[in-house]
Amino acid sequence: MAIFTLMSPGGSPGVTTTGLAVTHAWDRRALLAECDPKGGSVLQGFLAGRTDGLKGGLLELALAIAHDPDASVLWEYVISLDQEVRRWLLLPGLRDPRHVVQIESAWDAVIDVIKSAAGEDTDVVIDIGQIGRPDTPLRLIAASQLAVMVLRPTLRQVADARPRLDALGRYVGTSVPVTLCLIGAGDYAPVEVSQALYGLPVIATMPFEPRLAAVLSDGRPAPRAARMAHLLNGAQRLAASMRKAANEPHKAVAS
Ligand SMILES: Nc1ncnc2c1ncn2[C@@H]1O[C@H](COP(=O)(O)OP(=O)(O)OP(=O)(O)O)[C@@H](O)[C@H]1O
Ligand SMILES: [Mg+2]
Repeated sequence: MAIFTLMSPGGSPGVTTTGLAVTHAWDRRALLAECDPKGGSVLQGFLAGRTDGLKGGLLELALAIAHDPDASVLWEYVISLDQEVRRWLLLPGLRDPRHVVQIESAWDAVIDVIKSAAGEDTDVVIDIGQIGRPDTPLRLIAASQLAVMVLRPTLRQVADARPRLDALGRYVGTSVPVTLCLIGAGDYAPVEVSQALYGLPVIATMPFEPRLAAVLSDGRPAPRAARMAHLLNGAQRLAASMRKAANEPHKAVAS
């Protein structure tokens, strides 16, 4: 198994939506773990009104492993997003951001449990949300095979990304490749964004599709499959690029 982390510079560029799309498009079983300290949003968004019988999520998992570190407990809190197929899985995030204090000391245990329980046949995509906050669990990024900053190619997003990537680079050094994924077109071409952000590679650009994205971010009714494919094909390209980038030689984030 491999662990991939998606993050943002803030400003809600579409990390959770991209996380859902990319795990849906993954070529093997994939678990989206919502570890954003601000709280998860898939239950209230994509799954709005469809969460009967839910046992809990990240917080409940952290509390359970504090008592019994048996890795199989993970599956009690993981739900399937594709019913019986069980190739597209979700560990729901916090429902109340105040609960982050209860898991701050449990991140290492959570990642250990995820690693052992996921086994060979499941890859994990962590949605860590905005980085550069005091509660950002950088240790999750350090435990990943690849980190992807999701951002819109605008001056504001690039300006917010710079100090955050600099800090991340100092934290992970050369141990984790750090890459960029753009959402749509903006003020800057991918090559300019890359240049402004320490030469980090732009590994994919997701199509800017507000109505299709709202299916995943807010549980809006899905349009025709052919239309939805535009977003999902973009996710498939991102998924392939993520797997490739995780295995390629990389440089440290150098300011
Ligand atoms: N590819 C896309 N094209 C257009 N709109 C998008 C795209 N991806 C996401 N969005 C929209 O952007 C908004 C924010 O999405 P999302 O909640 O995924 O962002 P986020 O980065 O996870 O935010 P937060 O940090 O608040 O959790 C939503 O309205 C969503 O539909
Ligand atoms: Mg989010």
